[in-house]
Amino acid sequence: MDKNRITQLFGIKYPIVQGGMVWCSGWRLASAVSNSGALGLIGAGSMHPETLREHIRKCKAATDKPFGVNIPLMYPQIEEIMQIVIAEEVPIVFTSAGNPKTWTARLKAEGIVVAHVVSGSKFALKCVEAGVDAIVAEGFEAGGHNGREETTTLTLIPQVRRVTDLPLIAAGGIATGEAMAAVFALGAEGVQVGTRFALTEESSASDAFKQRCISLNEGDTILALKKVSPTRMVKNGFYQQVKELEERGASADELRELLGRGRSKRGIFEGDLEDGELEIGQVSSLIDAVIPAAKVTEQMMKEFYGAVKKLYILL
Ligand SMILES: Cc1cc2nc3c(=O)[nH]c(=O)nc-3n(C[C@H](O)[C@H](O)[C@H](O)COP(=O)(O)O)c2cc1C
Repeated sequence: MDKNRITQLFGIKYPIVQGGMVWCSGWRLASAVSNSGALGLIGAGSMHPETLREHIRKCKAATDKPFGVNIPLMYPQIEEIMQIVIAEEVPIVFTSAGNPKTWTARLKAEGIVVAHVVSGSKFALKCVEAGVDAIVAEGFEAGGHNGREETTTLTLIPQVRRVTDLPLIAAGGIATGEAMAAVFALGAEGVQVGTRFALTEESSASDAFKQRCISLNEGDTILALKKVSPTRMVKNGFYQQVKELEERGASADELRELLGRGRSKRGIFEGDLEDGELEIGQVSSLIDAVIPAAKVTEQMMKEFYGAVKKLYILL
């Protein structure tokens, strides 16, 4: 592929980013993705600061290619996390779940390339003001925490493209090269892929979680917990409890109490399929095998070229 702004910005071969994912994306997944020519991200969201340092060091040892760290900005020990990322000379940071103005200037002053994840064009404008290098626009098909407005990827990408010329990465519902071609047609220059990489061999999610997710059908995931933090998850026993509370008009505090601590760890990492929170995207219904991460990159690029060629021939 000819260089585009995303591959140039991150120094990678293919414009595919593996999204940071709690309990899935440690050094093993991030380095496998980076070694495949895409960009791997370590997900700091589920790590203690010192665990993150260890993952960064292991990732550096496992790849000589660029990799990054995803940092959800509501993280309680954010100062410590940022200091580690700076001290360890991580070249790329993807921030999410917060205001990009709080950290972008500081990170960029250290020579770090910064991308920020948004779910709507008004947040994209905040990224422009904050001076980020790239924007990730994530539609509500996506697994994990999500936007309140429920804007789908197909609608979101052109909306964001309309308000900014910054390098744009599309996320949400992208697991194939055909979907990648679709969002490129809408103005994206890269894709961030979560669900497909969560269900690979190198993902640190439990086997039980991976097997359950590859067996999902259309309609088996839903966006819940809107009063607390909108999250796309599997409709399992835990979701049924959330649903009952939500239907009774429960307050955010009641929902938070049900959620408790470590609900996503229990579901994703420990494989408690009934009482854990199983965060995964709609596109899981298209995935039917756990394969190596490098294969995902390879397949997606092959499908991408095939789709572009097919569209060209149709003309
Ligand atoms: C299990 C899981 C955990 C996630 N955790 C995070 C996270 O910690 N930080 C973040 O910014 N996004 C997180 N996401 C979102 C992904 O980074 C990515 O943007 C999203 O999965 C893309 O949509 P897709 O799932 O349809 O591929 C998570 C997604 C999943 C499936």
